[in-house]
Amino acid sequence: MDVRQMKIKAAETALSYVEDGMRLGIGTGSTAEEFVRLLAEKVANGFQIQGVPTSERTARLCVELGVPLKSLDEMPELDLTIDGADELDAHLTLVKGGGAALLREKIVAAASSRMIVIADETKVVETLGAFPLPIEINSFGAVATRIAIEKAASRLGLSGSVALRKAGDEVLRTDGGHYIIDASFGRIPDAVALSAALHAIPGVVEHGLFIGMASLAVVAGPAGARVVE
Ligand code: 5RP
Repeated sequence: MDVRQMKIKAAETALSYVEDGMRLGIGTGSTAEEFVRLLAEKVANGFQIQGVPTSERTARLCVELGVPLKSLDEMPELDLTIDGADELDAHLTLVKGGGAALLREKIVAAASSRMIVIADETKVVETLGAFPLPIEINSFGAVATRIAIEKAASRLGLSGSVALRKAGDEVLRTDGGHYIIDASFGRIPDAVALSAALHAIPGVVEHGLFIGMASLAVVAGPAGARVVE
């Protein structure tokens, strides 16, 4: 089974948690897109859900495949969100934002009674941090915010390169018009402390640490999918 097949397997298993009539948050990224493709097949066969997409990219795919969508303002309380992750540990703490959608992903997950993560087994880590932590920042004062992030990290004993994400030659803008800083701190032994330190910086809009948000993960490897709770 290659990585794409593992993503499909995780998405397929997660689909069994989706019930007819659910209000569903729909994640972003290649794994979430496999989920959208499978969901669209069920919808085409009469299954009824209403989805809230976590990015413009996901919204476009849902529209293309006929998955019914509403905005979060139209449907502010959701039953379940299904989304991918860049890293997850045994406590289901996640690093997200590789697809630059972390802010909407976190808002949608927070509006959901439940969040299920879908991932191939390469995403499972003992300690978070091998994947650079995406941090969404306001474009105003981006340099000052970057310096503040470095200082806050250093107070926690973390250091490493902290770089503005580019899209080609341009600085990348998220769906909300913000910048993303990718912080390569290495191991993050205390995600709660780092989360609080980042939230205390005015220019930080949100960060990609999802703590206590996911209640279940479906992780797929060559032997099939397993559920982590
Ligand atoms: C987007 C995300 C994605 O869920 C994360 O990057 C995983 O993506 P993929 O399934 O393509 O590996 O957080 O902001």
